[in-house]
Amino acid sequence: MRIDVLTLFPEMFESPLNHSILKRAKEAGIVDIVLTNIRDSSKDKHKKVDDRPYGGGPGMVMMCQPVFDCFEQVEKLSPDKPRVILLTPQGKPFTQKLAAELAGEKRLILIAGHYEGFDERIRTGLNAEQISIGDYVLSGGELAAMVIIDAVVRLLPGALGDGESAEDETFSETADGGSTSLTAGGLEYPQYTRPEIFREMKVPEVLLSGHHGEIEKWRRQQSLERTRQNRPDLLKENRGNAL
Ligand code: 6GU
Repeated sequence: MRIDVLTLFPEMFESPLNHSILKRAKEAGIVDIVLTNIRDSSKDKHKKVDDRPYGGGPGMVMMCQPVFDCFEQVEKLSPDKPRVILLTPQGKPFTQKLAAELAGEKRLILIAGHYEGFDERIRTGLNAEQISIGDYVLSGGELAAMVIIDAVVRLLPGALGDGESAEDETFSETADGGSTSLTAGGLEYPQYTRPEIFREMKVPEVLLSGHHGEIEKWRRQQSLERTRQNRPDLLKENRGNAL
């Protein structure tokens, strides 16, 4: 997969892209991530990329010219038709399902904005879909782009090492809609590792019993209880209810 990122702050991506799974996936040739600075495409003598909103109001708006020119230059760098994504809080919510869908694409172009937003003609003119990573406001689209890149790349075949699995995790849904996975679309159960006792806090006895049936039962109960407590909206019995 090729991922192009258009951003005013390419340096922000350096650390996240150069550690752990993303680093390994790049080195293995599973993903090629190319960062391009939108400011380099500005034709303004001061390299301006934003301006005041028509109609008034606070803040600044990302201008069409630098973004369109940057996009057209980047688009040409590969023959594959990209799926074009604009990172904005007005977008559709990013979910594990959408991550899996994006992981099936050959090419993504992510456009991260700053300031109050993009000139609307960027969205319409580039035929971009808008994605948001949650109901809170970030200072720019960069962190959101990194979240999306991380969630997508780890789903690409070969990105996870031996013993790491993208299935059976919280939010992963099996082909039948999650009804057979251990967590069944709910939250993960509590995990423990050595030692058995740490500062007088013990590992639950059942996990030391070697009784696989009992362990699975305990994990299901814990998963369900956690989901009830923290994310009742994920439970089938609550789907479709206004919570
Ligand atoms: Cl994609 N961008 C910004 N600026 N804020 C956000 C977001 C994106 N998703 C949630 N909050």
